[in-house]
Formats: sequence, C-alpha cells, structure tokens
Amino acid sequence: MKTILTTSPAEAAEFIKRGGIVAFPTETVYGLGANVFDEKAIKKIFQAKQRPNDNPLIAHVGNIEQIKLLVSKINETAQKFTEAFFPAPLTLVLQKAKNVPLIATANLETIGVRMPKNELALEFLKNCETPIVAPSANISGKPSPTTWQAVFEDLNQRIDCILQGEATEVGLESTVLDCTTETPFVLRTGAVTLEQLQKIEPKTRLYKISEMETPKSPGLKHRHYSPQAKVILVSSKFNFQCSKSQAFIGLKKPDSDFEMIKICQSVEEYAHSIFDFFRRCDHENIETIYCEKVAEKGIGLALMDRLKRAAAS
Ligand code: TXA
Ligand code: MG
Repeated sequence: MKTILTTSPAEAAEFIKRGGIVAFPTETVYGLGANVFDEKAIKKIFQAKQRPNDNPLIAHVGNIEQIKLLVSKINETAQKFTEAFFPAPLTLVLQKAKNVPLIATANLETIGVRMPKNELALEFLKNCETPIVAPSANISGKPSPTTWQAVFEDLNQRIDCILQGEATEVGLESTVLDCTTETPFVLRTGAVTLEQLQKIEPKTRLYKISEMETPKSPGLKHRHYSPQAKVILVSSKFNFQCSKSQAFIGLKKPDSDFEMIKICQSVEEYAHSIFDFFRRCDHENIETIYCEKVAEKGIGLALMDRLKRAAAS
C-alpha cells in the first residue's frame, strides 16, 4: 500500500471517508485514526500496528456534541471534567453507546473519549464528520511517535495517509480517567495532572494495578515505550562508568562524556523530548540510555511512569 503524505486535513479526511486509516498529529502524540463506526477500517489499525486485540482504542471528537454518539450517558462527574478541560490531553472512560462496535473497545462496554487540543487535529476531525478511534501511530511496543517522521519510520506502506504536522507539544500520551465509578480513577497519567483533576473532583485517585486482579486499562499490562537500547534510571549524583554507545537525558549535565546527550531546561521539555530521544538513540545504535529521575509530581509523574516502563522492558 502506498502511504500518501499531505499537509491538508481535508485530503487526509477523504481517506477516512473511503474506509482508510490515517495518521494525524495531536498535542500528545500522533494517532492512527479510523471511523469509529467502520469495523473493517478499525481492523486495519490493529493489523498495521500489530496491536494486541484486547487493547481498546480511544475515540476522538472534533466537538463536544459528538460525545453523544459514543456514550450512553454523560454522568455528572464526566460533565464536570468535560467542561473544565476539553479540548485537552485528557481521555474520559464512560459507558459506551450500543452502536459503537465492540472491536473499537476490545469488547469492553466502556469507551475512552477525548477532544484533542491541536488545531490541525481538530480541523481533520471536523472534515471527517465522525468521531475517530485512534491509538498512538507506532508499531506496538515502540515509543509513541511525536513527529510525522517517526510515524513514517514505523508505518510507511502500512497505512493510507499521514497528515503532516509539527512535532507534538506534550510528547506523552493523554491522561486516562475512568469516570464509570463513584471514585474517578486515573488509569494512565499524562499532562492533565492528578492535582488538576482533584481541583475539579477531590475524590479522584490514582489507580494501582495491584489493587485488583485484572487491570482496568488493558493497555497497562502490555509492553510499552521501549527503545532497543537498555534504559537505566539514575539520580543526578550517579557515578557513571564511561564506555562507548551510551546516552544521557535529564535536567542536570553529568561530568562524564556520552555519545548522545540531551539536557532539558524543564520537566515539560524532558517529557516533550523523551520518545524522540529514544528513537534517535536507536538510530545511532546506542546500547544504554541513562535517564535522570525527576520528582513524581505534576507532569513528572507521567514522565516517570513512561521511564519506569521503558526501564522494565
Ligand atoms: O494521547 C493519546 O491518548 C493518544 C492520542 C493519539 O490521542 N492515543 C493513545 O492511544 O495513546 P493508545 O491506544 O496508544 O493508548 C490508549 C490507552 C491504553 O492504555 C488503553 O488500554 C486505554 O487507553 N483505554 C482505551 N479505552 C479504554 C477503556 N474503555 N477502558 C480502559 N482503558 C482504556
Ligand atoms: Mg500506544
């Protein structure tokens, strides 16, 4: 299959209307989209990404009205979060509407819904005239793509079209918040922080996998975010043994030399850069990537989550 590259959201949306799959930018990471009501197209997403079919997809809307097409009811809590945040790097899990096909939600009766905060994404969604299910546009298990070039590297000739935008602003995937229970649970941390969510609903808690036997968010159990290189988390005082093929990313410049190094001015910049840095290290055949740990608050919580997963795989 030839993959068409375009900067036109209208041209990209034409592929969706014809049953195709299209990668597009959002403020978090690039997504790989299909019409939520087109089962055949959704199947193509799972094939192209080699995604395990027990991992549900997030549905993206171009306006708040479209949420009604996806969920049976927007409860009061969800209503509050929607009003406070949308459009935002935030996904709300709600009871799904009957006519949403089960392949989209991996047989769950719930669905993740999000309105992205990125002009090109919203323009694309508007042109599609339907909600779009989209996982991150990478091969499953690889770092999520934050540039269209990363999408191209993973999915060229496997998808119909790439809508070319800028590098994504946030660089980490959206916060996933389960709103189906009395207590809203954060299933995946992201740029909308626990602290911000608790301001709207103080009961909001982080969901810990060990609390229950099967994870609520199936994606949490899958291998994730890992470069080829070995990832090691270190503190700024770490005593490095210098050798070749090593890289470092963090906030404070270490004394040792590295083949590749990225010093970030803020935790936000670190989050923005991490997946791209992982990919660049793989291009250079780096063997070990040292990542400086950050405080687990604000977006630092989400960054540490991704770093720990990368280090564990
Ligand atoms: O920022 C993002 O969320 C990006 C952009 C493209 O929007 N998308 C993304 O999708 O990261 P994906 O498929 O890579 O991750 C979706 C996560 C998975 O961990 C999945 O298990 C969880 O959301 N999820 C989706 N629907 C769910 C549901 N109904 N219940 C619980 N978890 C759900
Ligand atoms: Mg993903």
